[in-house]
Amino acid sequence: MPLEYSKNRILYLAFLIASQTLLSAIVLKYIYYFISPSPPDASLKFCLAYCAPPSLCFWCLEIIRFQKSVGSQESKGNASAVYNLDHARLNVVLPPEKMWMNMGYWIGTNDFQSACKELLKEVLEAAGFLTPVGHVKPLRAAKRTTILDLGFGCGDQSLYIISKLMRTPLELSLMDEAMARRSINRGVDAYVGITLDPTQFTFAQERLKVKGKLSHPLVHIFCADAGRTRTWPAELIKRVKALSMPSPTAKEGEDDVDCWVLALDTLYHFKPSRNPIFQYAHQELDASIMAYDIILSDNQSLLTRFVLHILGLFMGVPLFNFMTEREYRAKLVSAGYEDERIEIRDISEHVFAPLTKFLVRREKVLKKFGWGLGKLKAAKWLFGWWARSKVVKGVIVIARK
Ligand SMILES: C[S@@+](CC[C@H](N)C(=O)[O-])C[C@H]1O[C@@H](n2cnc3c(N)ncnc32)[C@H](O)[C@@H]1O
Repeated sequence: MPLEYSKNRILYLAFLIASQTLLSAIVLKYIYYFISPSPPDASLKFCLAYCAPPSLCFWCLEIIRFQKSVGSQESKGNASAVYNLDHARLNVVLPPEKMWMNMGYWIGTNDFQSACKELLKEVLEAAGFLTPVGHVKPLRAAKRTTILDLGFGCGDQSLYIISKLMRTPLELSLMDEAMARRSINRGVDAYVGITLDPTQFTFAQERLKVKGKLSHPLVHIFCADAGRTRTWPAELIKRVKALSMPSPTAKEGEDDVDCWVLALDTLYHFKPSRNPIFQYAHQELDASIMAYDIILSDNQSLLTRFVLHILGLFMGVPLFNFMTEREYRAKLVSAGYEDERIEIRDISEHVFAPLTKFLVRREKVLKKFGWGLGKLKAAKWLFGWWARSKVVKGVIVIARK
């Protein structure tokens, strides 16, 4: 490879020298014609003879300069050197094993993937699915438990829930269903996931398929707008409605389903607002809600609110979707949830500042390899502003039915 490369380079330089000599000779010939109607000798051969030595000198100097700069750049590890760290792109593992994309819960970790998983676990713990040390919580009631997961991104949370919380069809077939619920730790019986982005959906679908998770008869994922329930296709509506239906073994009028709507770092994107999904969750599914969301801090000036709403538009947050805790509660209450059964816990200190620090560190590492944060550069700045100004809060929301 290096030999071929230097052969090409020599040919390229020879071409440059020849073409420059020829070009300057032609220019010289015409200059001769202009300054003197009868030049002493203006043949192309004559001009070439005059132009070749300076051309050769010029390119020799250029080569020396280039070699020097390559040497110094290589020693500095600069991105434009012939051999630097550019081939990292050939060595990084693709596709990445994890594709989390949330703000993370940065306690006891400096690692993005762990922080993202911790955020999910923190929400699941708040809803009573996990113990504080991350174990599946023992069952409190023999209820069928189902999850409607909104905005599952590339499927990491789906993989976690299905692998860690769902009872396998085998477990259920080995025992009487009601017995299984009592003897096995709290499990999830059915999972339906919805996400908006088709690229992410396809990526998630492939990952789940490869890991055999889509063969579970009670796991279904869809690419749809979770915030606009009226646009849902019939198949999705059918699967979602099934989440809240009593099991076949339920007695007449018995509510034996514990249905949850999960929204991990996604509700603020919902257009036109969160209202339709809050209403659907309560009125159609009789479900509880568990979420990580962003709310506006109290007593913010009009100007700060204005700036926040405008910046929000660039990160896909519809206008006025940032609201205070009081306004947020009011939306849940108007959807049917009781105020006393709503918990909103501020976890901002474990989110924005450590996330910004991580992005700064990440940018430095990427730079070494000649890469950058790309679109996420704006996010780094925004999270930094949120951490310093405390204009918004990152909160865990639990609204029990
Ligand atoms: C910050 S990411 C979180 C992704 C994922 N929950 C995670 O933790 O890795 C927000 C996700 O919500 C999805 N999303 C945004 N609006 C949505 C909507 N109306 N319906 C469904 N998904 C939506 C986006 O496509 C994106 O994948």
